[in-house]
Amino acid sequence: MEAHDNRIFIFDTTLRDGEQSPGASMNIHEKLGFARQLERLGVDIIEAGFPVASEGDFAAVQQIAREIRGVQVAGLARANTADIDRAWQAVADAARPRIHTFISSSDIHLKHQLHKTRAQVLREACAAVRHACSYTPNVEFSPMDATRTDRGYLCELVEAVIAEGATTVNIPDTVGYAIPEEFGDLIAELFARVKNIRQAIISVHCHNDLGLAVACSLAALRNGARQVECTINGIGERAGNAAMEEVVMAIATRSDLFGLHSGIHTENFFQSSKLLTQITGIRVQPNKAIVGANAFAHESGIHQDGLIKDKTTYEIMTPQSVGMTESNIVLGKHSGRHAIGDHLRQMGYTLSDDELNRVFLRFKELADLKKEIFDEDLEAILFEEVFRIEERYNLVYLNVVSGNVAIPTATMQMEVDKQLVQEAGFGVGPVDATFDAIRKITKTNYPLLKYLVSAVTGGTDAQGEATVQLKYNGRSVMGHGAHPDVLVASAKAYINALNRLEWLRKE
Ligand code: KIV
Ligand code: ZN
Repeated sequence: MEAHDNRIFIFDTTLRDGEQSPGASMNIHEKLGFARQLERLGVDIIEAGFPVASEGDFAAVQQIAREIRGVQVAGLARANTADIDRAWQAVADAARPRIHTFISSSDIHLKHQLHKTRAQVLREACAAVRHACSYTPNVEFSPMDATRTDRGYLCELVEAVIAEGATTVNIPDTVGYAIPEEFGDLIAELFARVKNIRQAIISVHCHNDLGLAVACSLAALRNGARQVECTINGIGERAGNAAMEEVVMAIATRSDLFGLHSGIHTENFFQSSKLLTQITGIRVQPNKAIVGANAFAHESGIHQDGLIKDKTTYEIMTPQSVGMTESNIVLGKHSGRHAIGDHLRQMGYTLSDDELNRVFLRFKELADLKKEIFDEDLEAILFEEVFRIEERYNLVYLNVVSGNVAIPTATMQMEVDKQLVQEAGFGVGPVDATFDAIRKITKTNYPLLKYLVSAVTGGTDAQGEATVQLKYNGRSVMGHGAHPDVLVASAKAYINALNRLEWLRKE
């Protein structure tokens, strides 16, 4: 990858930093599915995980490295031999592997966390880069907490790691402390003071604690940075990372000012955002820029009047340019498997035969219940079927009695390790009774952190989409379910959360 003056590289860290968002843990199927979407989107580098962190992380990075051939795949490693060896083992089979190694550089971190001197950190950073370069020339180095690091020391460190062979140097605003103008100045200062800086691509990685991650990333680009580390929907540690869709659409919409371009196919943004929400259960707020439900909704009469006269009056980019299109009615009950497969391909999903068979069966079931099936309905089925993990628990049937004169009762049959188990649950309402039955059948009692239901499309025959978040071992696990009956959707979401929790426990 060579630096051209006006081409920026998009380094996606949704699967690594993004996964550090509370409740966002993803299983290997979900990570692979999302990596495929990132490849379609046209990102340059996928940071697939932190291989030394767990066996599961290692396996996911390795599988992504083996299967996603059109994108560079990076594995994260602290600046030590064991981490770097493990990261290399995970990414070695990638078409274009990258090792990303990091160590803290601010005095605050050196004093309170690492208990090391600046000289020691400099030596360890250089040794780490040297070791990583013995595996691949594609090595990235990050001085963690760079924005609170002494500038002179930062320049010295950056120069030293480039001399050791780092081809990308990333400047993280780890705690989201920087102010855009100041961050732009820091990048400019690095370009002015570090003699060998043009031998590497300068990258930035901004956190959103002050809501400034995108603004800081843009300021850095205006001052010479050419790689941006970001995530879809801006998910990430604490307040998240810079949102990729916002950075990319800013430079595309204001190309007059930036004069830069990326390799991103922006019309895939909306779908990528929805897929991530489906996987993690973390919904985007309606007023979220670019991908929020209201991002292109014009409410005011004056605005609507202007738009009718000319779209450019109040629209600086089109909904189509980010993939937000009118909801389509998918063929009906008589549509065949091929038609559904073709339609999904047009929506950007290419399924294996087995996946298509499963989606088609569910489509037929839904078409018996609901006259019109929309893209969103098909997507809800797709996300459930395609990202389904090995399941310990399955819903067989659910019968609920409720109302203002009945004690809400749920009679339920489930498969647990392929054995049929039946129970009745009671509660203050039908959902409570349903969850009570599940808890009895599965002999579990994880605290329920969140329960949400919404409609996938409009109309009273819309599918209900439920999200359940359970607490397990200090972590939270999400589950989803969709069905025209909201109680069935809720039961499926609870059971899905339990299945995902089982996967996490095994890991
Ligand atoms: O925020 C941070 O500093 C990081 C580094 C590992 C790049 O995520
Ligand atoms: Zn980070």
